Amino acid sequence: MREVSAVARATGRTVGLVPTMGAFHRGHVELMTAAGRQSDVLVTTIFVNPLQFGPDEDYDRYPRQLEADAEVAAGCGVDYLFCPAVAEMYPAGAADVLVKAGHLGDLLCGARRPGHFNGVATVVVKLLNIVAADAAFFGCKDYQQLLIIRNVADALDMNVEIHDFETVRDSDGLALSSRNLYLTDEERARALNIYKALCLASDIIIGGERDAEIVRRKAREVVEHEHGVDVEYFVICSALTLRELAHVRGSILIACAARVGATRLIDNVRMSVE
Ligand code: PAJ
Repeated sequence: MREVSAVARATGRTVGLVPTMGAFHRGHVELMTAAGRQSDVLVTTIFVNPLQFGPDEDYDRYPRQLEADAEVAAGCGVDYLFCPAVAEMYPAGAADVLVKAGHLGDLLCGARRPGHFNGVATVVVKLLNIVAADAAFFGCKDYQQLLIIRNVADALDMNVEIHDFETVRDSDGLALSSRNLYLTDEERARALNIYKALCLASDIIIGGERDAEIVRRKAREVVEHEHGVDVEYFVICSALTLRELAHVRGSILIACAARVGATRLIDNVRMSVE
């Protein structure tokens, strides 16, 4: 991998990186395609990173479909697919040296998944170092992850540009996610309420309401109204600091995490409010 990058850079070409855990859907496809347009050489990594899964989470059953993914990647203009083994990434077993995700890693999903973002930050820094990418591309669907990676890259003076990419949705609005594969048809229908609630919150704000608690309560009812949707959090926060807001103003993030059956889903919308 290092050799490929070294040759690319020696010949004046830029290297772009799209880190993934595989089980590609249209979100990955559009992200890789966009990244390919902005990079001379595009590398995608597929690595289901054990470090970012909690002990009771879905590491073992996370979908792995390397062959199908390789075909999809080739169709998106990916030049190199890098799929290291766990033992290659963490030869000492669990990583002994970790990248701390910083204060942003303790909020929202981080509060419910202790250590998750340290695992993400560690693997992404490793992948960026291995690939020696000039630019890396991340989806806004995992907005907190994107913000953390920007922050880590900045704090560690990494010479990489971090690009973001808008969330790709199904035609009915459901955010595409590898974990949607876990959903039954009935669960999928219920999961749709997450996006509906986010849109309702946004509509209420567009309608003039600026009291975050009022917006939050009204919107949250939409998700909780559904039997079998367990809201972990529904927040209106600053899109820059992820701190919850009392008054809706500026660049804001409306974010929700919920369990639908056994599946944990996240989604968000961002808006700028006068
Ligand atoms: P994964 O969930 O496979 O996502 C890989 C990339 O695809 C991430 O940047 C994610 O935000 C983006 N993505 C996922 N769903 C998307 C959608 N519906 N629209 C647009 N982009 C979408 O996120 C991870 O893997 C891992 O945490 C990783 C960064 C690879 C570290 O292990």
